[in-house]
Amino acid sequence: MTSIVQIKDLKKVYEGGFEALKGVTLDIEEGEILALLGPNGAGKTTLISTVCGITNPSSGSVSVGGHDVVTGFRGARRLIGLVPQEINLEPFLKVWDSVAFSRGLFGKGRDDAYLEKILKQLSLWDKRNARVMELSGGMKRRVLIAKALSHEPRILFLDEPTAGVDVELRKEMWDVVAELKASGVTIILTTHYIEEAEAIADRIGVITKGELLLVEDKTSLIKRLGQKQLKIELSDPCDAIPEALSAYALDRVDDGHALIYTYDTQAERTGITQLLSDLAKTGLHMSDLQTMQSSLEDIFVGLVKEDAA
Ligand SMILES: Nc1ncnc2c1ncn2[C@@H]1O[C@H](COP(=O)(O)OP(=O)(O)O)[C@@H](O)[C@H]1O
Ligand SMILES: [Mg+2]
Repeated sequence: MTSIVQIKDLKKVYEGGFEALKGVTLDIEEGEILALLGPNGAGKTTLISTVCGITNPSSGSVSVGGHDVVTGFRGARRLIGLVPQEINLEPFLKVWDSVAFSRGLFGKGRDDAYLEKILKQLSLWDKRNARVMELSGGMKRRVLIAKALSHEPRILFLDEPTAGVDVELRKEMWDVVAELKASGVTIILTTHYIEEAEAIADRIGVITKGELLLVEDKTSLIKRLGQKQLKIELSDPCDAIPEALSAYALDRVDDGHALIYTYDTQAERTGITQLLSDLAKTGLHMSDLQTMQSSLEDIFVGLVKEDAA
């Protein structure tokens, strides 16, 4: 895969000195869905705005399809569709006119067949002559997407597409995103919902306090997320892990006062029952059991907590 967006050591210091991005480096692959997951104030909108050329980087660089977003702004912007965080539609405009107007802003010639295609794809075709103000919240969000796609961009940015939206509408939006991906559009969305990133992304980037903590393939991330550990505390310390327990790949900790078993919560069987039964046969006695979550999950939980505060 080739990267369509390249972000190198991007920093953004707002007037007044607040550092909203502290050196973000990220490559976005053509055709992928990348979710930027992070709590409010993490810098997600700032990152997207900089890639879209709405705010200027303080240092570092961003290129889109080979165009630098500052020196080659028009070339870069042409490739990008942006669905902003806030719904900002003209209430009295008809759906068709609203989308056609957006296309015009990019200096693209009229193409009714293309507009028909995206309105149909977004299930807005029947509403093409309705005024925006007559639409439900879910439809308004889809109009925003249609507008963002009106100039045939290759990359679509969705800034918190489902923030404050009910569960049903959220699922509907996920379906829309999956369809857009199937049509070949590269999609970057921001979210503070772990389950949203999990549901639709190919890769997940975790951003907090202006720093990208990690970017990883969803499948491998979930594997790590799914890992939990069981700490078996022993009444009497053991010098070595008994041969009979070798299949469990246990770790001996606390000078042999405890054993750690790492298991996969996604697996059909955790193996815990069998392990405890095998342990009893070795003559080792446990004094206590504790489960621990892997550190990555700690990161996620920490993010969400911060978000709720
Ligand atoms: N125009 C601005 N001037 C000063 N600070 C800003 C401005 N825009 C955003 N910030 C600050 O930058 C940080 C990141 O904001 P933002 O990118 O909107 O985060 P997110 O989208 O992840 O919620 C926040 O602390 C916010 O208050
Ligand atoms: Mg934001």
